[in-house]
Amino acid sequence: MVRDEKLSESELRRVADDLRGDWPTAEAVDFRESVEYHEALPPSKRFAEVLESADRPLLQPRAGVPRLDDQVRLLTHLLEDGRADLLPTTIDSYTRDNEYAKAQEGLEEARETGEDTLNGFPAVNHGVDGCRELIERIDGPVEVRHGTPDARLLAMVTFAGGFQSFEGGPVSYNIPYTKRRDLAETIEHWQFVDRLAGLYTEFGVRINREPFGPLTGTLVPPCIAIAVMLIEGLLAATQGVRSVTLGYGQVGNLVQDVAALRALRALGEEYLPDEVAVTTVFHEWMGGFPPDEARANGVIGLGGATAAVAEPDKVITKSPQEFRGVPTMEANAAGLRTTRQLIDMLAEQEITLDGVDDEQAFIERSTRCLVDAVLERGDGDVAAGTVRAFEAGALDVPFAPSESAKGAVLPARDDDGRVRILEFGDLALSDDIRETHAARLDERATTEQRPCSFRMVADDVDAISEGRLIGRPREGES
Ligand code: 5AD
Repeated sequence: MVRDEKLSESELRRVADDLRGDWPTAEAVDFRESVEYHEALPPSKRFAEVLESADRPLLQPRAGVPRLDDQVRLLTHLLEDGRADLLPTTIDSYTRDNEYAKAQEGLEEARETGEDTLNGFPAVNHGVDGCRELIERIDGPVEVRHGTPDARLLAMVTFAGGFQSFEGGPVSYNIPYTKRRDLAETIEHWQFVDRLAGLYTEFGVRINREPFGPLTGTLVPPCIAIAVMLIEGLLAATQGVRSVTLGYGQVGNLVQDVAALRALRALGEEYLPDEVAVTTVFHEWMGGFPPDEARANGVIGLGGATAAVAEPDKVITKSPQEFRGVPTMEANAAGLRTTRQLIDMLAEQEITLDGVDDEQAFIERSTRCLVDAVLERGDGDVAAGTVRAFEAGALDVPFAPSESAKGAVLPARDDDGRVRILEFGDLALSDDIRETHAARLDERATTEQRPCSFRMVADDVDAISEGRLIGRPREGES
């Protein structure tokens, strides 16, 4: 069984040597020389420092195109026109599946045709030198954003290539993303990624790690998302990571979102060791967007307003073209500016929302139940406990495709639009917490004069893209 123990240096070296055979660019990775490379980067490119010293929420978009020059142009536009504070490099799907040969074909086709034949930047194929050229040509900190269950080679190449922040984690990039990856094995893979980040840290190059908070992005109850963040933060800390950004995705109810962000920060500081600098990131709505750009801007604006009240350290923005998939650079920059306008107009207002404290206390109590259940199942070991808790359904993620999760939890909004749990499966929540969820959902059932059912869940999944928050029955239906 996998254990939450620090990987030895010999184990780290053995795995790194094995990975070198996976793609030719991995041969060029030289750890000592890479540390020197990072040391020479200017302060404006040191991701952890920029993020941790900010005095207002920093904004970061998603963005990735296959060719290097285009990626430079795209990020420059987001900096200059969108005033992004932090930059991304979103990795293509072949790389996420470790299909480097297919990514290479796509990259070559992109170079020949001028089309974006990949949905992101194939960093492994660009190699250490390509990544460094990108870092050098962009005047800001850049993070690797992806969705790769086995991201070991990607981490090796991009850390050597000058990136100082890396998204993902063993639960958050497995359970919501893939069907057949073994969770214990994914935890081992991420122990390597975190240990590598930890080793850079020990040599004075603090690499920021960011577990992916939104999970499946669809009506995820805050306690589940936060529990996963704490697990991934603890696992990373064991491997020597000292800069961790915990994430949470907007659900659209202002009180619940503010409460969840506060709970995330409070529990992150409590659960993670003192030597870890904990920051938080708020993701603008990750579910289905309205096709109408004006309405999409409304969703983004609510995200900006929420961030202004809750003050996370960072906000991942969406674009008004979210419905179409990958946005144009102009739309991407527009999403940044809309968010900034909301934050800057609201930031200096003193806003008090009724009910936030109670909701935060409820989220914290629920999250503790889940994390305690994990630790109990692992006899105090968070790695073993996570595997066993997912097997048993004591920890679970709604709508997850993974066979490593039960997938028995069903969420629905209550009468106020807060995300509650309709079906718990074997989720480790106490009876009194379950009763609160049930009572809140019963209120909605009464309002709508229909029973709580899967119909309600499906209506909620579509509601925001249809211009609402709660999936109420339309006239004539019930
Ligand atoms: N550029 C910009 N956004 C991207 N996304 C995925 N790939 C890219 C890319 N290459 C965004 C999607 C969605 C989120 C999961 O990631 O639009 O918002």
